[in-house]
Parts: sequence; C-alpha cells; structure tokens
Amino acid sequence: MKSLWLDRESRFTSDAIPDEKHFDTIVVGAGLTGMVAALLLSRSGQRVVVLEARTLGAVTTGNTTGKLSLLQGGALSALRSQYSLKVVQAYVEANKTGQAWLTQYMEQQGIPFQRRTAVTFATTDDGGQRLRKEAAVSRDAGLDVHFSRDAGLPFQVVEALELEGQVQIHPMDVLENLAGDIRDHGGLIVEDVQVQNVSGERPLEVATRKGTFTADTVVLATGIPILDRGLYFAKLEPNRSYAAALRVPGGSTIPSGMYLSIDAPTRSQRTYPTPDGELLLVGGYGHAGGRAMSSKKHVDDLLGWAHQHYPGAEVTHTWSAQDYQATNLMPFFGKLPRGHGRIFFATGYNKWGMSNGVAAALSVTSDILGGQSDWATIIHHRVTSPKGAAEAIRHNADIARRMIEDKAKVRKNPEITEETRPPEGTGVVGLYKGEPAAVSTVEGKVCMVSASCAHLGGLLGWNDAEKSWDCPLHGSRFTPEGKYLEGPATHHLQKSVGKNAGGRKQD
Ligand SMILES: Cc1cc2nc3c(=O)[nH]c(=O)nc-3n(C[C@H](O)[C@H](O)[C@H](O)COP(=O)(O)OP(=O)(O)OC[C@H]3O[C@@H](n4cnc5c(N)ncnc54)[C@H](O)[C@@H]3O)c2cc1C
Ligand code: FES
Repeated sequence: MKSLWLDRESRFTSDAIPDEKHFDTIVVGAGLTGMVAALLLSRSGQRVVVLEARTLGAVTTGNTTGKLSLLQGGALSALRSQYSLKVVQAYVEANKTGQAWLTQYMEQQGIPFQRRTAVTFATTDDGGQRLRKEAAVSRDAGLDVHFSRDAGLPFQVVEALELEGQVQIHPMDVLENLAGDIRDHGGLIVEDVQVQNVSGERPLEVATRKGTFTADTVVLATGIPILDRGLYFAKLEPNRSYAAALRVPGGSTIPSGMYLSIDAPTRSQRTYPTPDGELLLVGGYGHAGGRAMSSKKHVDDLLGWAHQHYPGAEVTHTWSAQDYQATNLMPFFGKLPRGHGRIFFATGYNKWGMSNGVAAALSVTSDILGGQSDWATIIHHRVTSPKGAAEAIRHNADIARRMIEDKAKVRKNPEITEETRPPEGTGVVGLYKGEPAAVSTVEGKVCMVSASCAHLGGLLGWNDAEKSWDCPLHGSRFTPEGKYLEGPATHHLQKSVGKNAGGRKQD
C-alpha cells in the first residue's frame, strides 16, 4: 500500500554521510516535527544534520490525511476531563501557533494548500451529546465553533460542529520544501541512517550502523522515542488507521469540508485537488497498533463505507499509518529525562501532529536557543490527573497480560519447520527449535525471522494489509525479511532463529 502523497517521484535526494561528523544539533527523524525543528535551528546559524532511518516522510507524515485543523474531533473535551481549563487553553494555543506557523510558511514558500471548514459530525444521539460537550469546551478555549444540522454529507447526521478557515495540505509538498530550505541554510538530511543509541555527555555520541556522529544537542523526532530513558514507550499507545483516495464519478459533487465523526468507528473525509478534478480522501477504522485480527478487513470496511455513500467511486490509493496517544492525552515535548538537558523529544500527537508537531518543534527549538512560550510552560507544568495515571496503569497491565498470553499461545501453535510455507500473502508464528519464529510468503518468497520483537521481545503478529510483522506491545513493525519499519525498536529482527542460533541481530 502506498499513500497518495508518497506515490510520486520524490523531488528530494539524500545528502551523503559527511566526513565531518560533529554537529551543533542532530535531529533524528525526517517527519514534520524533525524537519521543522531542523529548519528553525539551521536558520539560527547552527550546524544541523537530520538522520533518517528510512526516507523523507516515510512513516507517519507521508501517510497522514493532512488536515491542519483546530477542530479535532472529541480531543478538547477528552483533555478537559483530565485537566484544568487553563491547560486545555494552552493546548489550543499551542495548536494555533503550530497552525499559524505552517500556514504562513506555506504562503511564503508558495506551497499550495486549501482553506476549508472543519466539521465534526455525530450520527447517534450519544455522539450528539459528546459533540455538545466538545462545543462547550471549544468555546471556553476560545474557538469560534457553531452547530449545523446540514453538514452537506451524503448521509444523515444528528448534529455537526463546524469551525471555519481551517487548512488541508499535501504533507510531502511541505516536507520537500522544508528539505530544500534546510539545505539553503547549510543543513544536511541523510536518509537510510538508523540511530541506535545516544550516549556520552559532552559531546553526545549518536551511534548508527554507518558510524558514530557527535553533537552538542540531539532532538529525537522519531514518533515514539527510541531511547528508553523516561520509559515513554510505556506511556504511549500506538493507534493504526487506514486511508484511501477515490475518484468519484462527477467529482465536483464531493462535499468540500474536512469531516470527522465523533462516533466510533472514526471516519474522516476531505478532498484533494488534481488537474483531473477533486479526489475524495477517506480515513479511519483505527485500532491499537499490532492488534488487528485482520488489517485487510479494516481497509475493506473503510472502502465499503466509502462506496456506500459514493457509489461507483474508483479507488486510486489505500494506505495506513500509526500515531501515538499519550495515556494522559497530552503530547510530550521537551527535555528527555537523564538526557543531561541536551536530548529533546516530541511525540504523542494523537493523530493531530500537523499542528502539534510544529508547535512541539517550535517549543523544543526555543528551549535549545533560549526562550519559551506561555503555552509550553503551562503544558510542561501540568499535573497528571488520577484518570491519566489510572490509564497508564491499565495500559501497562494490559501489555503485561498480553505478553504472558502470547507466550502461552505460541506454544500451542503448530511447530515451524524448514518445510513451513504459508499461503501467499500470509504469515504464521510458532516455535522453531524451541524459539518463537515468524514465517511468511510474499510474492513467492518464503522468509523466516525471529518472532520476538527487537524492542522488548513482544510476540509479533502478521499484518495482512501491509505484509509486515507488527508488535502488539509498543507498535514496532518489520518487513517480512525482518527489516525495521517503525516504532521504538532500533534493530532489525534476528534472522537466525532457534536455540544455539547465536542471537545475532542482522545488519
Ligand atoms: C492515519 C493517520 C492520519 C492522520 N491524519 C492527521 C491529520 O489529518 N491531521 C493531523 O494534524 N495529524 C494527522 N495525523 C497525525 C500526524 O500525521 C502525525 O502526528 C505526524 O505526522 C507525526 O510527525 P512526526 O514527525 O512526529 O513523526 P513521523 O512522520 O513518523 O517521523 C518520524 C521519523 O523518524 C524516523 N525514525 C524513527 N526511528 C528512527 C531512528 N532510530 N533513526 C533515524 N530515524 C528514525 C522515522 O523513519 C520517521 O521518518 C494522522 C496520523 C495517522 C496515523
Ligand atoms: S515494540 Fe516494544 S516489545 Fe515490540
């Protein structure tokens, strides 16, 4: 599956690994957060490199639905159930700042974007009630929202909450432009370099498979943090969702707003202008990362919903991606604990990273360069509510239970042997010489890798939509050959499986 955004020839080519490997700041991760941070730092005169494990935008930013909106489904009322109004207002202020920065940047750089009305709609009475709560908190937080009974959608809604003047973007247009701008300010962006550790103090030593780099400051813009300091992987839940682009017969009849349901399953909709008319983009049907019985079924359900309301629409792209939700609902950004005040991180945008990611980059770079905004100070000094703390305990108890159950389950699965050859497009997990092994067949190629996640050993499961091995604990993902795709792991899967295999991780 490839997103609409990534399905084009990239205008970006990686820089080569430089001979001089000391930098003022190393930014790890070339998604929206990392690229904005790198631009702000290189503009200030710092020597900056972005190290990217895969390619520009390859993970969440290149697979987003790209709504740059302050109306965020039920996000504000959920936050208000845990925090004071002052903290919720600070969250909105952060998002306003992120949205304003990115919109102004796109205007200045001539990057196309569209202004649209954002709409959160309810299709049930329960959803209607939640929408009214969201409206009340939104108004208290200073957003000029209003209700409408006619959202212009091709199905009945109970109520719809609208906010005018929001923005939809093409995320790769933004990233490719940022890359050019970073270079114009002397920065480098190097793809295919996975950071495996950050150690030392002055300077920080950044270990990769392609050599060690050093820096005064490191910004981890990797989605979920790759370092275990602060145990943030245990405070974040990966949520995977699906998206599709469709060409609708008589495309001009597609409603022009940016829509999101407040009822489950979450369903979203926007348009994308092309020379041949507008495409319809739909999204949703999410679940906890690595925990779908069948990811393909989620794609089929999304497409079924789209076809029900847009009969005859032709699917041009389907894709999926995951983002991280903090157990206490508030994005994390700032100094990583035990990072000597010089390792920064940003994550936990809960699928609202277009504005939150920019806000986090602005805050982290202010921290590095000196200065800070009121909203960041308020968010940093918030107190986790009993509800947030209880959610963290529930989440980790669930992970511990899952680990035990998976270990018992794998022993009951049929044993893996050299002859195991799953049907095309499928994967199986079982014991091979006493150790968990994962075998898949993709395009006729049979691969066996360790079924133990390279992060903390979670038992991997097969993703039948993306043809990948996904971890149900903290969301790491790997190709059938065991190569790292995303998540907190910093190694590929072990290729050699079985007792006496030596436990070597492949490079
Ligand atoms: C389906 C979906 C739809 C969404 N729609 C919206 C939307 O409409 N509006 C909105 O505001 N938000 C949306 N979001 C959320 C938004 O896309 C994300 O919050 C945002 O893109 C996160 O950006 P990022 O830069 O933090 O992470 P990423 O884009 O994931 O970038 C992190 C980068 O770090 C790299 N990396 C990881 N580990 C290492 C390592 N060890 N070494 C080097 N590099 C590494 C990765 O390869 C990756 O490129 C959506 C999310 C999903 C999943
Ligand atoms: S992602 Fe943590 S154990 Fe797999």
